[in-house]
Amino acid sequence: MPEGGLTPGGSPSEPTPLRTIILAAGEGKRMRSAVPKVLHPLAGRPLVEHAVRAAAGLDPADLVVVVGHGRDAVTAHLDGLAERLDRPISCAVQDEQHGTGHAVSCGLAPLDEPVIGTVLVSYGDVPLLDTSTMSALLAEHAQAGNAVTVLTAVVSDPTGYGRMVRDADGAVTGIVEHRDATPEQLDITEINSGVYAFDAEVLTDALSRLSADNSQGERYLTDVLGIARADGRRVGALVCADPWLVEGVNDRVQLATLGAELNRRLVEGWMREGVTVVDPATTWLDADVVLAPDVLLEPGVQLRSGTVVERDATVGPDTTLRDVRVGAGATVIRTHGSDSEIGSGANVGPFAYLRPGSRLGAGGKIGTFVEVKNSDIGDGTKVPHLSYVGDARIGEHSNIGAASVFVNYDGIAKHQTVIGSYARTGSDNMFVAPVTIGDGAYSGAGTVVRRDVPPGALAVSGGPQRNIDGWVIRRRPGTQAAEAAERALAAQDQGFDPASRSQADESNKQDDSEGREP
Ligand code: UD1
Ligand code: CA
Repeated sequence: MPEGGLTPGGSPSEPTPLRTIILAAGEGKRMRSAVPKVLHPLAGRPLVEHAVRAAAGLDPADLVVVVGHGRDAVTAHLDGLAERLDRPISCAVQDEQHGTGHAVSCGLAPLDEPVIGTVLVSYGDVPLLDTSTMSALLAEHAQAGNAVTVLTAVVSDPTGYGRMVRDADGAVTGIVEHRDATPEQLDITEINSGVYAFDAEVLTDALSRLSADNSQGERYLTDVLGIARADGRRVGALVCADPWLVEGVNDRVQLATLGAELNRRLVEGWMREGVTVVDPATTWLDADVVLAPDVLLEPGVQLRSGTVVERDATVGPDTTLRDVRVGAGATVIRTHGSDSEIGSGANVGPFAYLRPGSRLGAGGKIGTFVEVKNSDIGDGTKVPHLSYVGDARIGEHSNIGAASVFVNYDGIAKHQTVIGSYARTGSDNMFVAPVTIGDGAYSGAGTVVRRDVPPGALAVSGGPQRNIDGWVIRRRPGTQAAEAAERALAAQDQGFDPASRSQADESNKQDDSEGREP
């Protein structure tokens, strides 16, 4: 556990507990959104979750998030996150947003007295900041014996950020907000990241003295630096070498820019772990996907939260998966899937749609233009072409013919179809659920299966085919079809078949006697 700092007086003693406060109460007007800014996602996690995870990595005694705008939604997310991180997260309410300084006062309120040692403050809209950079800030703060240490960065475009003001000796004297800066100050390229280590007592005292005498009429946390410095306290800065880590999200343009950068880093991280990514620019990975070595990601792949891909599997091109587990050596091509499981060595796609609850066993196949929902398809079983499989349980090594539909919905309720192992169902079958087909059963092409099929039986439905000779010529005279038929029949009479269809003609004659007009 990192040390929270030294007790006043500077002598090394019992480490005081570290307190962290994350500000997330603002509306985020520049997002122009009904959703609170800090809930907008980046790599599958709301902005505030990135900030909380970074702070939680320090294992602080207290982790407080200041909520206000849209606080029911923000608090609900944080409650879930606390469970997932298995640590408490306290929410402090800032009812009206009077600025970042006021927000920190709200954040200190729920802490147990005495609040001494170090308080680390960060902002909920700075998503790329990581635990190790925060640790470095705490280390610098302790080492320099500062009352306030700010994390800063030198950026090419400082527009919108608070600027770091330094004296002739380079010592930090304060922070001036963009809107309040003089033209000369606007030229400063060193910006305030919004991450600070404070001596708790200096912070508490300075907060009580903040004024709202600025362009926004707000109590700026940044003014704590000037106050501390004027009181003769040590104020310092740690310049972050990687400016991306301190970039904030204020509008949707920044959201997209930081999203792309975070993705670039995630993709690069997985490539270093042994994943082949053919086209990093078109590969999008959420922060919590897990990929094994020798996974191959083809271009145009989006792997969303909860997706796990095991060794030697190939995903893509053009595939989107959320909450999908892809087994070792499986292939998933041009597929859209969620909340599903693909067994090892199985093949999915191209053009497959896996809806929630789809499970394909090892070595199985969900082929082209196949939609599956809430169905268990056993090891080695294949649904290769143009089918809908809904609410089905299919055993092992069965084959479902092309263009089959699991008719699961009677207009009121959904029903289940059960097909055993080693079954062979014909093309264009309708399985009218609830219905059960036994192990090793067959069905003929075009069968409408309404009744259970015992193991080993062949199911067929529909009567024998009837051909009514000459129907088109008599009933559709003058059409192109009738004329084509007349030509073909005339050629046949002369012993010459232009379409080489003599075999078909043979079979047509069989039903002659039964031919009746409809
Ligand atoms: C702030 C800093 C600026 C810094 C920049 C870094 C101040 C006055 N300015 O500017 O120096 O360069 O961040 O990204 O601190 N918030 C509250 N309650 C409030 C106001 C804000 O909780 O009353 C929260 C917001 O939800 C947000 C964070 O504080 O997460 C920062 O607020 P924002 O309005 O985005 O400040 P910036 O203008 O970006
Ligand atoms: Ca901001």
